[in-house]
Amino acid sequence: MIIGSPTERIKEERMVEITINGKKVSAPKGTTVLRAAEMAGIQIPKLCDHKHLAPYGGCRLCIVEVKGMRVPIASCTLPVSDGMEIETETEALKQSRKFILSMLFSDRNHFCPFCQVSGGDCELQNAAYHEEMTHWPIQPGWNHFITDTSHPYFILDNNRCILCRRCVRACAEMAGNFTLSVAERGASSMIVADTNVPLGDSTCIKCGSCVQVCPTGALIDRTSAYQAKDEQLTEIKSVCAGCSVGCSVNIMVRDNRIVRIEGDWDGDVNHGVLCEHGRYDPVTETRTRLTTPLMRVNGTLQPVSWEEALSAVQEKLQPLAGNKHGVAALASTRLPAETLSAFKDLFQNKFDSELVTSIEEGVPTAAVSKYAEKHAGFEGKIDTLRNSDTVLCIGANVNRSHMVAGFLFKRNLSKGIHLINIDPGESSLDEIAHMALKPNNGADLVLIRGLQAVIAKEGLERKSLNITDVDARIQKAVKETGIPLDKLTQAAQILAHAVSPVIIYGKGITAQRDETLIEELHQLAVQVGCVDEERNGLLSLKGEANSLAAALLGLDESFELNGHKAVYVALGDDHVSRSLAERVSKAPYLVVQASYESGITEKADVVLPVSTWSEQEGHYINLDGRIKKAEKLLSPPEHVRDNLDVLTDLAKRMSLTLDTDWQNAVRARKASVTLN
Ligand code: SF4
Ligand code: SF4
Ligand code: SF4
Ligand code: FES
Repeated sequence: MIIGSPTERIKEERMVEITINGKKVSAPKGTTVLRAAEMAGIQIPKLCDHKHLAPYGGCRLCIVEVKGMRVPIASCTLPVSDGMEIETETEALKQSRKFILSMLFSDRNHFCPFCQVSGGDCELQNAAYHEEMTHWPIQPGWNHFITDTSHPYFILDNNRCILCRRCVRACAEMAGNFTLSVAERGASSMIVADTNVPLGDSTCIKCGSCVQVCPTGALIDRTSAYQAKDEQLTEIKSVCAGCSVGCSVNIMVRDNRIVRIEGDWDGDVNHGVLCEHGRYDPVTETRTRLTTPLMRVNGTLQPVSWEEALSAVQEKLQPLAGNKHGVAALASTRLPAETLSAFKDLFQNKFDSELVTSIEEGVPTAAVSKYAEKHAGFEGKIDTLRNSDTVLCIGANVNRSHMVAGFLFKRNLSKGIHLINIDPGESSLDEIAHMALKPNNGADLVLIRGLQAVIAKEGLERKSLNITDVDARIQKAVKETGIPLDKLTQAAQILAHAVSPVIIYGKGITAQRDETLIEELHQLAVQVGCVDEERNGLLSLKGEANSLAAALLGLDESFELNGHKAVYVALGDDHVSRSLAERVSKAPYLVVQASYESGITEKADVVLPVSTWSEQEGHYINLDGRIKKAEKLLSPPEHVRDNLDVLTDLAKRMSLTLDTDWQNAVRARKASVTLN
């Protein structure tokens, strides 16, 4: 058991009774004294400790006196034991802490009043105020380090570093990336990336976890630097719309602008960690904003009023209601569930259009949803990734998308868990995988069946699949996948011997739109105990933030014009692929509601400027069925309207009333995961 690890991991049955400052405190066995004190509302000064990182015991600021022990001892690495009597605030301890801080301040550049994070953001400075330090009793002097400014999102200034190693631990324990370490020794010790290369040239995947945990100004966020002090910020909890993982975020807002995004330490999926997209995309947006409705007049798009734009759309679309080939409609899967549901109701139910889908066209979800119609809830929860000893990743590059899902198991690779990566193409996961299988294109089904057959032949099935053609399957797999028998056998053995295996699959599988593939993966999962009565470690990544909601609403068909007279695209702040943009552009009449200019808005006959993710509220259903609310963080520009509001207005103009019960709408179809 890891002492002082995140509270979720502390699962000791026995409680231990201790006394802190005369107060009786009980804490689970294995908890550290520091954490036990915090649970009881007693704060012990600390710097290197972080409740989401394993204890390090480097700064000594958290020292306490323990009855019977000769010297003060660091509470962040000291496990509680029955009858312990602890003092945290004696005069001797206060003097020692002051001395420890004096040493920290004397080493390197901590002229805090001039540091940009001073004024509330710096834990070192706050510790100094708390210990009532008034000056530096020891003359500062330090080796000067070169500041690393090579990274696009943050600066590393070793001159301000206190060597607490939170960043090193966050990179390894949270992101599973192991980029940072400490080089040199003693006073020359410094934080470096890889083999001391510039951060911008390193293996850093730009998740920003190191910056979020740094207690000083040694890691400085470039995107928010000088934009606000903590006291000027309003913090709003919300959900990231970067992908279907659905990470919880804390958004710092000032003057109708997002200053900074941090991972929510209480987030049920991500527990504080974010990826580059979640943390930085919303604050580094460079696309040109649409701020007024546009209408094509004599071949060019001209600014018009909302009245003119919506009247024109109504005039064109209303006569097409009831005609299956009248209006084809596409929505972004980044839109809230409320908007997606209204969109479906308008075009599928009220207009009776036969082509109402999403811009993902069901690529990440259609086959999964079809299979779920017969096997509802066949997929599990993302949490299984945390405690898995073997992960089979198939057609899912979590280094490229859904990165936080990858963090959940990559962080355990150094502890000996196995990763088998199956991807016919280039995959950066291959470098860290125990086994990288590269089947020929289109051979996934025979590969999965081959794995099942080897497991059966070796007598390793936890649940028998009663395969009758074992040898024929194996031969076929070897022949058609191009994977040698010894490798196939090794992969099957690793998977079958796992205690808590997880299988995650992504677009490489789902894009084939083959329900049988999903069924065989499910069978494999059952065969190796990945899915049984106690746990379910089978999961597909889905796509964008509301991919699952769109699929549950049936918005998962391929898009192909079939004599349609008009196309309506509710794009919001999303991007559209070039292939889809080309197909959509062939529409005789094109309406696009979008937040930003793009190739598709250029081709439109009417463009309706709408809110972005941060300017509207609404619900998202993440990849494992959690329903989360995204808050409205900002007011949109003056003539920009809410996505849902535009659809409702349009419907009203045509005397239609849209169904607002989105919860009911998304539950009408069986889901691959349990919604909660
Ligand atoms: S940004 Fe993430 S990957 Fe890069 S060094 Fe920091 S923690 Fe490591
Ligand atoms: S850079 Fe920040 S988090 Fe990393 S060791 Fe230095 S002070 Fe600690
Ligand atoms: S993994 Fe997805 S939801 Fe999480 S921070 Fe990244 S983009 Fe956002
Ligand atoms: S907080 Fe305990 S040693 Fe740093």
